[in-house]
Amino acid sequence: MTQSHHHPIADSNDQQATSASVTDEQVINWIKSRRSIGNLSIPAPNANQLKAAIECAMTAPDHKKLQPWRFSIVEGQARHEMGRALLEAAQAQAEREGTELDERTTEKTLKMPLRAPMIITVTTRMRYHEKVPSFEQMLSTGAAVQNLILALQAQGFSSVWRTGTLANEPAVKRYFNVGAEDYICAFVYVGTSHCAMPGRGDFEITDFVRHM
Ligand SMILES: Cc1cc2nc3c(=O)[nH]c(=O)nc-3n(C[C@H](O)[C@H](O)[C@H](O)COP(=O)(O)O)c2cc1C
Repeated sequence: MTQSHHHPIADSNDQQATSASVTDEQVINWIKSRRSIGNLSIPAPNANQLKAAIECAMTAPDHKKLQPWRFSIVEGQARHEMGRALLEAAQAQAEREGTELDERTTEKTLKMPLRAPMIITVTTRMRYHEKVPSFEQMLSTGAAVQNLILALQAQGFSSVWRTGTLANEPAVKRYFNVGAEDYICAFVYVGTSHCAMPGRGDFEITDFVRHM
């Protein structure tokens, strides 16, 4: 399946853009225009588009090239299995709190993965290295997630990075085959949106930046 627009970076900045060449300013404005979109439908990325996005993710800064990330693709029926893992996690959480899930919460939890045609779950696979503490490996995985999201957007898709309180519950980690020392860093819900991306106000960076 092909996307209706061929050069998302140029298109988002300049409706008149007809060539594939993109200026530096267009790239910067395009990065700034990224928004999370929760209302996602088909099409999901095809195999080649997914491969391109994961290749971009794997170019994230990575100390000692440990490649501390893994990607689990959930689509189709697997979304129902993931829903059952989330429900199991929610039930365990409720049990710890001495409560029970009501029917509404049960249904809602089971259906969470149906909010997009594809979910790319990004997890860590930490390795011991005397020069690379686990926090570096986690940050590297986070950088991979952002590259993934931008590469999906560059191919015309919308997405939202979610985790939530259930993500690192044992039942969910078990479903994704994630070890006790590792983390589920992202559920990247991805698909197609026909809504315009909401704008952002201008940023004032001065409070966040100090020149030493
Ligand atoms: C690690 C991480 C986990 C997140 N988990 C959730 C989540 O579970 N649910 C949610 O609505 N947003 C979550 N977000 C926030 C959204 O991805 C998004 O960044 C936020 O809603 C702001 O929207 P914007 O990306 O359009 O600026 C998470 C972000 C990060 C970095």
